[in-house]
Amino acid sequence: MNTQLGYVCLCIIWLWAPAVLDAAQSYYVTKSGNDKNLGTSQLQAWGTIQKAASQATPGSTVYIGPGTYYETVTIGVQGNARSGPITFTSLISKTRPIISGARAKARSSDEILNLIYMENKSYLRFVNLELANLTHTECSGIRIVGAGTQVELRNLLIHHIRGGGETGGAMAITVYNKDQRTSRSGLIIDNCTLHDCDPAWSEALTLNGNVEQFQITNNRVYNMNNIGIDFIGGESDMGALGTRSGRCANNTVWNIHSTYDSSAAGIYVDGGFNITVEMNEVHHSDAGIEIGAENKGRIASNMTVRKNYIHNNNKVGLAFGGYDQNRGRVIKSLFEANRLEYNDALRTGSGEIVVSFASDNSVYANIVKPNTQNIILYADRVGGLKNVFDRQSYYPNGVKATQSSLIFNWGNQQYKGLSAFQKATKQEMHATVINGKRRRKKK
Ligand SMILES: *[C@@H]1O[C@H](CO)[C@@H](O)[C@H](O)[C@H]1NC(C)=O
Ligand SMILES: *[C@@H]1O[C@H](CO)[C@@H](O)[C@H](O)[C@H]1NC(C)=O
Ligand SMILES: *[C@@H]1O[C@H](CO)[C@@H](O)[C@H](O)[C@H]1NC(C)=O
Ligand SMILES: *[C@@H]1O[C@H](CO)[C@@H](O)[C@H](O)[C@H]1NC(C)=O
Ligand SMILES: *[C@@H]1O[C@H](CO)[C@@H](O)[C@H](O)[C@H]1NC(C)=O
Ligand SMILES: *[C@@H]1O[C@H](CO)[C@@H](O)[C@H](O)[C@H]1NC(C)=O
Repeated sequence: MNTQLGYVCLCIIWLWAPAVLDAAQSYYVTKSGNDKNLGTSQLQAWGTIQKAASQATPGSTVYIGPGTYYETVTIGVQGNARSGPITFTSLISKTRPIISGARAKARSSDEILNLIYMENKSYLRFVNLELANLTHTECSGIRIVGAGTQVELRNLLIHHIRGGGETGGAMAITVYNKDQRTSRSGLIIDNCTLHDCDPAWSEALTLNGNVEQFQITNNRVYNMNNIGIDFIGGESDMGALGTRSGRCANNTVWNIHSTYDSSAAGIYVDGGFNITVEMNEVHHSDAGIEIGAENKGRIASNMTVRKNYIHNNNKVGLAFGGYDQNRGRVIKSLFEANRLEYNDALRTGSGEIVVSFASDNSVYANIVKPNTQNIILYADRVGGLKNVFDRQSYYPNGVKATQSSLIFNWGNQQYKGLSAFQKATKQEMHATVINGKRRRKKK
């Protein structure tokens, strides 16, 4: 009897084992759950996201039920290449569970608070969650620190991360890696909505340090009190390796205004390398897209900025170049086929395009529709004149405006009219001017 039963049992185990290994493990967290449960079914659900973040196994999915979870979660687990990532997502597909910071308490004022925090982690996915209402001087919705690979943030809604101060900032998404040996790679941030945070003096969505092979796509970023999306390299406390080799595409960024210098760009590359910024829309911010290098000796290079729609920004549409003579330069980058419309809304005189400390860059085939100031360009006298401008299409603004209405500030000189600019600088030799409608005289 015993041996026979034993045989039957072994047989069942043998038959079931492959199926069990293949089936992805699921875990559940609900508002009515309890951390003493097993977590493996809805009836056995855990009560906190932190429990899942400490127990979930590689390849598993953590389903989080609707409701508000008052937690600050530290991710202690991760997936791997063989079993796959761990996914944290909503139990009910159209209802995002909320992680709220409304009851979070810092032990001291200089502690950094985060709704989700991870360090040196890989193979994790966060999908369809809402993170909100955290208030502290230095804090983030999600903070990803250190080296790692394959982390994805998708369909997240992050808002009201507030209270940022001069020493830090209340940021939506922070990615920092100062590990010089191993990069943070394979990062995807897609289809997220970030709004109403106080990131000053930091940024709403920032990648900083040894970060490569990233994709920041299809996100909406708005109502921020400093820079919207930022790619940083060269800050002294982050090591020499900067953010590089990635793509920022099809994001929409608006209402980005710096509280301290009114010069925040919607999308900013500060000392990055080999980054493509394309098909984004940036509007009604201090500045549209800026490629710079703030830190001493830093060179931002091989950037491609194309097919963006940049309009109605307060000070300038497109800006590139280092900060000043001693602080950074932008070289060998391409600015092509962007649409620049009605920027410098505050009529500061900088117009559509500002070039500071930059050389060997190409500005080609952009469509430029200035406001009635008709100011196209401001190129710095010392650092801005060794770049090539060609094949732009200009739309002079005004009933009788023509090519002669366009204003180009080139070093110490101001040229009134495209012809004058061409003649003096040999730039823009193949530009097109599309004049506004003019009254036709009757013959
Ligand atoms: C955030 O706070 C506001 C105001 O206190 C409140 O109305 C809202 O319900 C809160 N939302 C979350 C997700 O905690
Ligand atoms: C993360 O990695 C860095 C560099 O190896 C190490 O100094 C740090 O202690 C690690 N942190 C954790 C929480 O493992
Ligand atoms: C993007 O997120 C929205 C929620 O904001 C969702 O309705 C939509 O299905 C998502 N799109 C994709 C392609 O995942
Ligand atoms: C530049 O970035 C692309 C990805 O956008 C990558 O495939 C390529 O290898 C990078 N080039 C260098 C020199 O790092
Ligand atoms: C760009 O975003 C829009 C909506 O924001 C979406 O409909 C479209 O599919 C996206 N395009 C690409 C190429 O991802
Ligand atoms: C420069 O950027 C282009 C386009 O992203 C890429 O194909 C090329 O590999 C990059 N070159 C270097 C030297 O990074």
